[in-house]
Amino acid sequence: MRYDIITIFPGIFQGFLSESLLSKAQKRKLITIKTHFLRKWTTDRHQTVDGKPYGGGPGLVFKVEPIFKAVTALKKLKVSPVHKVHQVKRKVILFSPRGKKFNNEMAKKYAKLDQLIFICGRYEGVDERVAEHLADDVISIGDYVLNGGEVAAMAVIEAVSRHIPGLMHKKESASKDDHASYTKPEIFIPKISGKSKVKSQKSKVIEWHVPKILLSGNHKKIEEWRRRNTE
Ligand code: 6GU
Repeated sequence: MRYDIITIFPGIFQGFLSESLLSKAQKRKLITIKTHFLRKWTTDRHQTVDGKPYGGGPGLVFKVEPIFKAVTALKKLKVSPVHKVHQVKRKVILFSPRGKKFNNEMAKKYAKLDQLIFICGRYEGVDERVAEHLADDVISIGDYVLNGGEVAAMAVIEAVSRHIPGLMHKKESASKDDHASYTKPEIFIPKISGKSKVKSQKSKVIEWHVPKILLSGNHKKIEEWRRRNTE
């Protein structure tokens, strides 16, 4: 999988890409993630990427032309080695709070592609012709409004990459049936510097316990408990 991200804030991705499991996955050549500065595809002195909306209204809207040029250029990139074997399977994704709600099923489907081209909008929006003619999918990551598509792109990259074979540790499953889990100590007493701060009305020291069943060694019972405690 090759991810190509079109953004006016490539810097937002630096920590995300260098600190995470994704950096290891890139070194292992399981994925490639590249950010692309949208202003690179402007021709005027001020590298203008946005303009006033027709019909009036507040804010500025991303122009279609730089995005068109960016997407066209990124479609020409070699997605090695698959481009030799078959047609490159790719999707162009526009991030927008008005898009289709992203979910794990979509993540699984995207993980089978060779290239994802992400368009991160900013400000008050993106010229609608990008959604109409350039994007294959318009995606939202939830019912709230973000200042731009960058955070959404990071969420989608993580969710998709978990489904790429070999990327996750063997024991970690890519599935979503995550269960409640506990680690040492068996009993935790919430207190700060010797004094117990959290006390019941009778001034009894509070203890936070690990569910007994998990300490039982009875794997059948544990399985059953986990199933019950998974949504
Ligand atoms: Cl993809 N973009 C923006 N700007 N806001 C959002 C979103 C995307 N998903 C939820 N809110």
